[in-house]
Amino acid sequence: MMQVGTIIGFTGILIISAVVLQVALSVHFLVARNVRSARLDKARLDQFKERAATVLDRARVDRESHELSWSGRRKFQVQKRVYENPNKDVCSFYLVPHDGRPMPPFRAGQFLTFELPVPGESGPVVRCYSLSDSPTRKDHYRVSIKRLEAPPKAPKGTPPGVSSSYFHNTLDEGDIVEAFAPAGEFYIDEASERPVVFIAGGVGLTPLVSMMTWLVETNSHREVWFFYGVRNRGEHAMFEMLRRVEKENSNINVVVVYADPTDTCRKGEDYNVEGFVSVDLLKSLLKTTNYEFYICGPPPMMEAVTSGLEEWGVAQSDIRYESFGPASVKRAQAAEKPATDENAEVFQVEFSRSKKTFEWTSGAGTLLEFAEANDIKARCGCRTGSCGTCVTALMQGDVHYIHKPAKQPEAGSCLVCISQPKSDLVIDL
Ligand SMILES: Cc1cc2nc3c(=O)[nH]c(=O)nc-3n(C[C@H](O)[C@H](O)[C@H](O)COP(=O)(O)OP(=O)(O)OC[C@H]3O[C@@H](n4cnc5c(N)ncnc54)[C@H](O)[C@@H]3O)c2cc1C
Ligand code: FES
Repeated sequence: MMQVGTIIGFTGILIISAVVLQVALSVHFLVARNVRSARLDKARLDQFKERAATVLDRARVDRESHELSWSGRRKFQVQKRVYENPNKDVCSFYLVPHDGRPMPPFRAGQFLTFELPVPGESGPVVRCYSLSDSPTRKDHYRVSIKRLEAPPKAPKGTPPGVSSSYFHNTLDEGDIVEAFAPAGEFYIDEASERPVVFIAGGVGLTPLVSMMTWLVETNSHREVWFFYGVRNRGEHAMFEMLRRVEKENSNINVVVVYADPTDTCRKGEDYNVEGFVSVDLLKSLLKTTNYEFYICGPPPMMEAVTSGLEEWGVAQSDIRYESFGPASVKRAQAAEKPATDENAEVFQVEFSRSKKTFEWTSGAGTLLEFAEANDIKARCGCRTGSCGTCVTALMQGDVHYIHKPAKQPEAGSCLVCISQPKSDLVIDL
């Protein structure tokens, strides 16, 4: 009898314990679910706030760009010069407006177009230089310029780069330089939240550094890969900044690739990989192709990388690039290039201002190269369809572009630096 009572009592305790445990577990799960849901709500709210802030910031930037922008040239004073590499052939110029008025914000990746009174040149020299600082810095613009020597295989007596030598050798702190407002269509997509890959070759790092520092300064959590190909430590620009940014931001990876390291270059410290920035290298480090790619560097590297990315399966819309294009070399080469193709197209081009007509064939290159080869002067800057300096009225006929211009010129005009005739033409040169 006693044993039966004990068993009933023990069973009762077990049942009560089970009920208490079940209630406790239910309460625990309920609380956990609410906490989780509250956390999710907070994360969603934070995400929403971030997006709203980006949209508002974009609207503010657009408004200020419009209100504060200027047309024509504006005077800037060189506030500071800073060499960016041991070879001292890349120098940053910090520019402040001479009139002291606020400067319009720019989009990370855009450039300034300068008109330079270079002594000994027949007219002003027009060149573009990317803004290399983050757009969040409101007190100055910065451009970082590589001094170009004559190419190694150029004939003896070939002059060094006109504009880059002028910046390096002539412009001192306190001097004045004239520039057009920031422009260009190669800039980071601020609204995107996708991971991003920057691929820089040589001084092509400048617009990409601007984009990366913008991401850092706006506390972006986007995954970032910065591939930088350069010859060796002597040419390696912005070394400390790149290392610091990588150290301080867990979402940023910097991979430095030296093509020709010297004995003093330290692998693992100065650089990571020997060779060239190739798609095979990207494949070995990136888990997927799901990135936005921004590329800027010498044309051969850009061609190899962009076609390699497409073969890998990256959507064309995810590959954005800008070419710096050597300004004078093209002119010299094009003038020497004969039209050899038997199937070459032939068109009459009338230069109305100069009152001259010449026969253009495919081998004659762009309208700019064709004009220069026939001693007809045309205003130009970048020679790559970026700056708009060469825009010329098209009075009759039609042209096609050898590549997409950064900004489509108005109807009835064309950018002669990247256009070729599609019919007989009359142009205002
Ligand atoms: C959108 C854009 C952004 C850019 N951003 C930057 C930037 O951030 N930093 C930067 O450093 N550059 C940048 N550039 C490139 C820059 O605009 C200039 O093209 C570059 O500085 C060279 O100009 P230069 O006047 O010094 O050289 P150029 O006088 O144009 O000469 C170019 C090269 O040709 C050689 N050369 C001259 N004559 C001959 C000849 N007859 N035969 C063979 N070779 C010859 C010169 O020695 C030199 O090596 C950018 C270009 C563009 C379009
Ligand atoms: S020279 Fe710059 S767009 Fe033609």
